[in-house]
Amino acid sequence: MHQTGLRRFSPTLIFSALPFRPAVLFLLLGLALALAPNCSSVPKSATGAGLSAAELRLRHRVDSVLARMTLEEKIGQMTLFTTDWGSTGPTIREGYTDDIRKGRCGALFNSHSTQFTRELQRIAIEETRLKIPLLFGFDVIHGYKTIFPIPLGEAASWDLAAIEQSAHIAAAEAAAAGLHWTFAPMVDISRDPRWGRVMEGAGEDTWLGSRIAEARVRGIQGKNLGSTDALLACVKHFAGYGAPVGGRDYNTVDMSERYFREYYLPPYEAAVKAGAATVMTSFNDYDGVPASGNRYLMTDILRKEWGFTGFVVTDYTSMNEMTNHGVVADEKEAGELSLRAGVDMDMQGGIYQRFLQKSLAEGKVTLAEIDEAVRRVLRLKFMLGLFDDPYKFCDAAREKRLLLAPEHRATARDISRKSIVLLKNEKNALPLAKNANIALVGPLADNKSELIGNWNGAGNFNDCISLLEGLKAAGTGTIKHVKGCAVEGNDKSGFAEAVAAAQQADVVVVAVGENAMMSGEAAARAELGLPGVQEELVSALVATGKPVVVVLMNGRPLAIPDLAAQSTALLEAWWLGTETGHALADVLFGDYNPSGKLPMTFPRSVGQVPVFYNERNTGRPYDPNSKWTSKYIDMPNSPLFPFGYGLSYTTFDYSTPVADRSVFKKGETIQVSVTVKNTGKRAGEEVVQLYIRDLVGSVTRPVKELKGFQKIMLAPGEARSVQFRITEKDLSFYRKDMSFGAEPGEFDIMVGGNSADLKKVKVRME
Ligand code: BGC
Repeated sequence: MHQTGLRRFSPTLIFSALPFRPAVLFLLLGLALALAPNCSSVPKSATGAGLSAAELRLRHRVDSVLARMTLEEKIGQMTLFTTDWGSTGPTIREGYTDDIRKGRCGALFNSHSTQFTRELQRIAIEETRLKIPLLFGFDVIHGYKTIFPIPLGEAASWDLAAIEQSAHIAAAEAAAAGLHWTFAPMVDISRDPRWGRVMEGAGEDTWLGSRIAEARVRGIQGKNLGSTDALLACVKHFAGYGAPVGGRDYNTVDMSERYFREYYLPPYEAAVKAGAATVMTSFNDYDGVPASGNRYLMTDILRKEWGFTGFVVTDYTSMNEMTNHGVVADEKEAGELSLRAGVDMDMQGGIYQRFLQKSLAEGKVTLAEIDEAVRRVLRLKFMLGLFDDPYKFCDAAREKRLLLAPEHRATARDISRKSIVLLKNEKNALPLAKNANIALVGPLADNKSELIGNWNGAGNFNDCISLLEGLKAAGTGTIKHVKGCAVEGNDKSGFAEAVAAAQQADVVVVAVGENAMMSGEAAARAELGLPGVQEELVSALVATGKPVVVVLMNGRPLAIPDLAAQSTALLEAWWLGTETGHALADVLFGDYNPSGKLPMTFPRSVGQVPVFYNERNTGRPYDPNSKWTSKYIDMPNSPLFPFGYGLSYTTFDYSTPVADRSVFKKGETIQVSVTVKNTGKRAGEEVVQLYIRDLVGSVTRPVKELKGFQKIMLAPGEARSVQFRITEKDLSFYRKDMSFGAEPGEFDIMVGGNSADLKKVKVRME
């Protein structure tokens, strides 16, 4: 591929390329402002009043470019196209190269590697009229080359610093490979494990999801937009995408405004307020209006209520799909609806490119609306520093140094082991002795291809450490590996060999789960058990009488009551990515004491779904002894494993929490303390969780809501007092009149190691 040397790109190039000469005064002002140093922070005020000099300079630089653009070039900045996947990396379609040359496409996605992006950038800089740099985006969801656990897995770590660091490494690697923008974080709350995309989010809880959303934005964007180790974040999928009816991807979302605001919107808001530069619309409709044409979402809530100043991009062809939704007659009308809603960039649909000029000519949209969208895009290109140096992210030496760097792998190993959740450990089957003779069984035991999960960036599964490799590297006993069966299908011909290996061993470790493509986009499942004959394989191994340690590798909560009952020990290991085998060996042999806690409820049966911890009490709360209460007649209401649940190789004891006052006034902060003691024989970390319940509200309130947590390390026998501060905001909600605030009255403050096992203290707000 043709290489060009690093060329400093100056806005003066824009001026020298102009086919006309603007007024001298304007030129001087424009030049002075356009050449001024890059601005690196998002403005505090979008009103014009009280703007900083840097913000004013940035605005003038943007406007000085805008003033020179043709309508076609403006619409080009609102157009995003994908490149294709070739056997050796990304490739570009001829038509798109032509679009770039004519200024008809201002951004590309799925284009990565310094070599590939440099060549495309060269076309934009050397062969277009205005030399406006391209923006390169990619789905860097849980790693670029070094692949971290899937986001749902990382959420199980409840370690915000580690999550931020993982996002930062992913961004640093991607930025070293020519990228500017990731389509992450996905912050869609979901209570429905049938929905395959639960793997990409932080689970079911609004509060935890919001904190993780902030951590991911901080990690992705770093300290400054424009640093060469950071990317623009894109909060997605706005909004409500995680609540499709029936858990079926892309399906309608319909719920009360109260639920929407209380449970689903806060993580998007938290991410926006953490400074996320861009937002992606969702595929679904909400309250009858598809997100990509929803002005209430994209303008009223996002920009007016939350003060978002970045740009909004559609999801892949979701603008076009508004014709299928049946809210517009054709694609031209879809483009008009989107632009008027506040959507700035069209991902892959080509609608703005094909129809917006006509819509403007017909008076269906205004030039001011188009200009505003273009400004938002140019603004971020300036903030990234691309006008000053369009090749600043194309440094082949940096790319070589950073991708899969040993320190990145070490961090991945650490967060991977923190993401593992110990769900059962009978007879202290775990940890294993290092010299144990192990029968290692199961379709995922010596597998690499599935370990990087779905949305695996530029990851190569050959870089992964398999479970077999990890155990061999850490153990000293014999390890006999037998696959036993595949993830899917009915073939049991490998069972006999697996059983024979089990009979010879001290302990059986069996790795079962889902293939990577069974979770993620367009991967809704109506059944939530283990696919194929895997559970039968486990039963055959259990029948040998040997202890059976089940390691689950999957992208969502599974309904596996029988598997859980028959296993001796059960570990949820999600898809952990590059360092899978090492992280699992650390946990299995006890070099790391597991500390993960479920960020999403595991149901007993798909019939319970949606099942989540922060439900309303109802008028007839569950009573196992009374038929006429809210329950199933064939199964308890309780889940298989509740939200926040996870064991350790040690045990923890909680005191009853104590509040510093039992009565407090509105506006005051209340402090709650609990003493947590490590009652076992090993050092271990515990996620101490704080929940509240408002006992009487103007509307019904959840029976518990997470409002805080602290992850603490305790030595054997050590006890520590843990303090939580509860503010009025923590007790606030959307009241009957939809105003947000707290109401005086009684509250239960609950503390414990998971959402189903809590001790409480009552307080009253006056
Ligand atoms: C997904 C988005 C993703 C986009 C670009 C869509 O199908 O819904 O999450 O960012 O594709 O790859």
